[in-house]
Amino acid sequence: MTELKNDRYLRALLRQKVDRTPVWMMRQAGRYLPEYRALRQQVGDFMSLCRDPDLACEATLQPLRRFELDAAILFSDILTIPDAMGLGLHFVQGEGPRFKTPIQERRQIEQLVIPDPLTDLKYVIDAVTTISHELDGAVPLIGFAGSPWTLATYMVEGGPTKQFAIIKSMMYREPQSLHLLLNKLAVAVTDYLNAQIAAGAQSIMIFDTWGGVLSSDCYRAFSLDYMQQIVEGLTHSARGRRVPVTLFSKNSSQWLEWIAQSGCDAVGIDWTCELGDARARVGHQVALQGNMDPSVLYAPVDVIEQEVARILAQYGSEAGHVFNLGHGIHQDVPPEHVAAFVNAVHRLSQPYHALS
Ligand code: CP3
Repeated sequence: MTELKNDRYLRALLRQKVDRTPVWMMRQAGRYLPEYRALRQQVGDFMSLCRDPDLACEATLQPLRRFELDAAILFSDILTIPDAMGLGLHFVQGEGPRFKTPIQERRQIEQLVIPDPLTDLKYVIDAVTTISHELDGAVPLIGFAGSPWTLATYMVEGGPTKQFAIIKSMMYREPQSLHLLLNKLAVAVTDYLNAQIAAGAQSIMIFDTWGGVLSSDCYRAFSLDYMQQIVEGLTHSARGRRVPVTLFSKNSSQWLEWIAQSGCDAVGIDWTCELGDARARVGHQVALQGNMDPSVLYAPVDVIEQEVARILAQYGSEAGHVFNLGHGIHQDVPPEHVAAFVNAVHRLSQPYHALS
């Protein structure tokens, strides 16, 4: 077993006792950090940063040098899989990700080849190896992927969307074509995550950013079922330790019980759901990750501390809480506010763990 100096995050995911609540932030590496902006400017574009394992490692470690975070997350993107499938990923300044060849017809779906992570996505797997070596057990490393549904929205729409008109029209007019695409993506994601685990990832997170735009029946059929298929196909243990899996569907608290029954170890929740209610609804089945509104980090430090205290009190003294934001950190948040947030979680959570 690799020696881990700080295993609070893994212990909390397995609902074991900890000395203080572990904390990390979705999108913790990124543009709110001046050192990230400098690195990014030096390299030119985001994907070049992802494609170079040493630079991806540097971006991963930057937030850990500043803040006492309890986990590191691989610096990469969810869209590496569709890119490896040949869709031609690029980023348009101010508009976000775009694909040169979006999926427009069934024939394209039939022709999609499932990427081999060790060749087609070698740069990501090499980054995992480099980062886990550099971390040297300081904190656990989180590997990740997008959910099939969320990846499919970008692949079919060709970029970000507000209405999801193209993919939803495919869903209602040609459901079998969409199922074929989601099936291929589920296999691709499973292979990709298992390769990340083999290379050193100690925990896995699946980002389903757009699951919450679906009706209940469609969420189950087009998003959750495929995430469940992935969870079933993952290597759940590596280097003598369990590799916990967290599922995060944004805007999905109405389906919390379903998600908790998927076989995952933890469920990420956004700020629209009260953490104490969430715990009562899922019982002891899973750990919970969340759930401060990222916009709270715009507020003065005393307000940030009040919000942290409120969320800790809502959760109470039970094991199984990983503190996080309810979605990714905004890019214009002052880093000093982040430091205050992380320190507040550690300081204010101690009494909850001392009692039990
Ligand atoms: O969390 C981390 O620090 C690890 C790295 C990470 C990134 N993207 C880096 C990134 C992770 C886990 C992601 C996941 C991701 N990527 C999601 C799911 C999570 C979520 O926030 O809902 C989604 C939907 C994407 C797709 C994507 N990639 C978008 C919408 C964007 C933003 C485009 C923009 O210009 O605003 C990206 C680019 C991206 N991914 C950046 C980073 C640091 C910014 C790149 C830059 O301009 O330097």
